[in-house]
Amino acid sequence: MHDTRAFESLLAFWVESGVDTALADEPINRTLPAIEAPAPAAAESAPPPPERRRPPPPMPAPAPVLATQAPDVLAKAVAAASEAAATAQDLEALAAAIAAFEGCPLKGGARQAVFARGRPDAPVMAIGEGPGGEEDLQGLPFVGRAGQLLDRMLAAAGLTDRVFITNTVFWRPPGNRTPTTDEQAVCEPFVRRAIELVRPRVLLLVGAASARFVLKRSEGVLALRGRWFEWRSGDGELEIPALPTLHPAFLLRQPAAKKKSWEDLLLLAERLDRPHRPE
Ligand code: URA
Repeated sequence: MHDTRAFESLLAFWVESGVDTALADEPINRTLPAIEAPAPAAAESAPPPPERRRPPPPMPAPAPVLATQAPDVLAKAVAAASEAAATAQDLEALAAAIAAFEGCPLKGGARQAVFARGRPDAPVMAIGEGPGGEEDLQGLPFVGRAGQLLDRMLAAAGLTDRVFITNTVFWRPPGNRTPTTDEQAVCEPFVRRAIELVRPRVLLLVGAASARFVLKRSEGVLALRGRWFEWRSGDGELEIPALPTLHPAFLLRQPAAKKKSWEDLLLLAERLDRPHRPE
């Protein structure tokens, strides 16, 4: 006999803790061509009665699989991204180049590209990990629960309207998983070009997957956060201070950690408001 109230209470607890996605025990590689998926058992493959059948989501053609066993596919995708990014002379052109780019396997499972929001001349550029479900729907980064918390924290630190927000990847990873370093590597030329076009005074690296990838460091985010690092453009022309911080999705699960993020934002605001010599 099921205890409905116990289930409801458990569900409420999960929702309260920030759990908004159901995941299977084993990861599913949705970028693989459908042909490689195991055939379902005959009984399971019987279609549901018509009134319960949902319209299937549109599935674009399978994208190339990027993995360590396909370094040539990865290298070609990175080269194509570098070429496309280099031709973009402004953020609008960069957004269009990203939307048209076919080399990232995440594109196959996403509704649309999610590039950026915020002022193009912002002194702060925040780089998150990758779009989630709400971002995939709206086409804008950090607009779900975590993004709303980020906005509130930026506002409290006096940084509203002073931040340009983007991610390390521009398509939602399936099931909101962390993007792989291959997926980040394919999108990296676009991220680097965005930094060159915005020329922010500081970078805020939001979450472990952003901090580690952008800075090419292996430490955990708890060891990286609250410390200044230096980001350099490929030609060495730009050197921008970069500050890793905790991801707001983590803060929704661990509210006690908000104090650390708050310290990070104050550090950033203090550096911004220090008198500086314009270039
Ligand atoms: N988390 C991220 O890292 N980026 C988003 O855009 C949304 C959630």
